[in-house]
Amino acid sequence: MPAEPATIWKGQVNYHDEVVNRRAITLLAIDDDPESLALVRAALKRDDLEILTTEDPEAGLDLVRRLRPQIVLLDLIMPKLSGLEMLESIIGIDPATEVILITAHYSSETAVEAMQKGASDYLDKPLQIGKLRERIDRLIADVQHRNRADELSEEMVKACRFEGIIGRSPLMLDVFARIRRIAPHFRTALITGDTGTGKELVARAIHSLSPVAGGPFVVANCAAIPENLLESELFGHVRGAFTGAVQDKVGLFEHANNGTLFLDEIGEMPLAAQPKLLRAVQNQEFQRVGSLAIRKVNVRILAATNRDLRTSMKDGDFREDLFFRLSMVQMKLPSLEERKDDLPLLLHHFIQHFAQTYNKPIVGISRRAEAALLRYRWPGNIRELENVIGYACMMTDSTKLDVQDLPDLFGSASQPDASAPAPLVSLDEIQRIHARRVVDQLGGDKTRAAEILGVSRATLYRLLSAKVGTAHLTE
Ligand SMILES: Nc1ncnc2c1ncn2[C@@H]1O[C@H](COP(=O)(O)OP(=O)(O)OP(=O)(O)O)[C@@H](O)[C@H]1O
Ligand SMILES: [Mg+2]
Repeated sequence: MPAEPATIWKGQVNYHDEVVNRRAITLLAIDDDPESLALVRAALKRDDLEILTTEDPEAGLDLVRRLRPQIVLLDLIMPKLSGLEMLESIIGIDPATEVILITAHYSSETAVEAMQKGASDYLDKPLQIGKLRERIDRLIADVQHRNRADELSEEMVKACRFEGIIGRSPLMLDVFARIRRIAPHFRTALITGDTGTGKELVARAIHSLSPVAGGPFVVANCAAIPENLLESELFGHVRGAFTGAVQDKVGLFEHANNGTLFLDEIGEMPLAAQPKLLRAVQNQEFQRVGSLAIRKVNVRILAATNRDLRTSMKDGDFREDLFFRLSMVQMKLPSLEERKDDLPLLLHHFIQHFAQTYNKPIVGISRRAEAALLRYRWPGNIRELENVIGYACMMTDSTKLDVQDLPDLFGSASQPDASAPAPLVSLDEIQRIHARRVVDQLGGDKTRAAEILGVSRATLYRLLSAKVGTAHLTE
């Protein structure tokens, strides 16, 4: 007998809209017995529920894949496929699906196995209308509650954002207050904090709230510029100043004129270059390499480092005068570990961001996966979190991230679905992801990371600065 096509209640459903607009709850019943399906339709009819039914397991799976029903009623014994296998496939497609198994052949062993495989509930046949309604009503209430929680966190993310910086923990509220106080008046400021805590993001926020917001924001990464080129990069050079200087070059200080120069990784600035930098910062004047002419600029300086500059000073790697000049206004960013209460907020922010970047209907994360993320220590801080969520969003086939989408580190027990095509990414992206992971796991120690990866520090910086996906958060 040819398989009966799926019956779709309440007229035609637009598949795409249905997946994207998750407000209506969809229930799919899969059972080879048409009478049982008729009973389900009659018993569960309510306005906020879209009921789909099919007698064919294959068509059922197809519907699960395309429409992602939040609730599936599944007959355990069907001619073509075992209900337990179906259960596994459904959970594999979307772990957030609530699956209720129904069968005449009740056995507690099967029930236990089904619950272990992820079923939410188990009902006997013949179905008792009262019981069925009661269970489904409860599930619907649960699903609606979770949808509201997801919507709420979207709103919270919006409310807890300051110039693109997410946070509402007391430590972050203090950071926001300091940014507001520093921005109007600063000439120089030092931003410290572990790797990935948002130093550059904060620097951009300070700039965009400052009186020179309309001027340039120029980034000089002191660690990425080879030592012999540093001076010419910062101050420029004139033609013939050294071999290879075939024409005049404008340096970053000049590019930043009437704006802000962000001296990133200032702790890596070679000692020899520091006196000239101090003069430029202090007197707002410098000379291009190979020229005696003094150039004047009007540049605000923001410097950042994840090093403890006091220790560098004691070790003789950082000049005291430069340190005191830069650190007159100082701001330390908390690690993610110190503000774990911001993690759920950041999670939802990154999920939304990557769902958009990868154009996938991802709306949230399972409680299990969120708990696994909360247990982790996050040595690479927010950038590591961003990378983990980016990876999970790339890997998942579901509307909710679950443990198996996370990197192995988070104890994903099951293997990803081997039949699902692996995401196609470039070699550059693989290099970037790998380099990032090494740096994150070393708590941001880029010198060691470069050693392990077998590349120079400058190369490592180039690798790391490539952006994830097509869009980027701060731009
Ligand atoms: N509070 C935050 N809210 C949202 N995104 C954040 C936040 N903090 C950091 N990020 C994101 O995390 C990533 C790392 O931030 P950023 O580059 O500013 O860190 P950093 O402290 O400069 O790191 P490093 O020391 O490794 O250079 C960026 O993509 C940034 O957008
Ligand atoms: Mg940085």
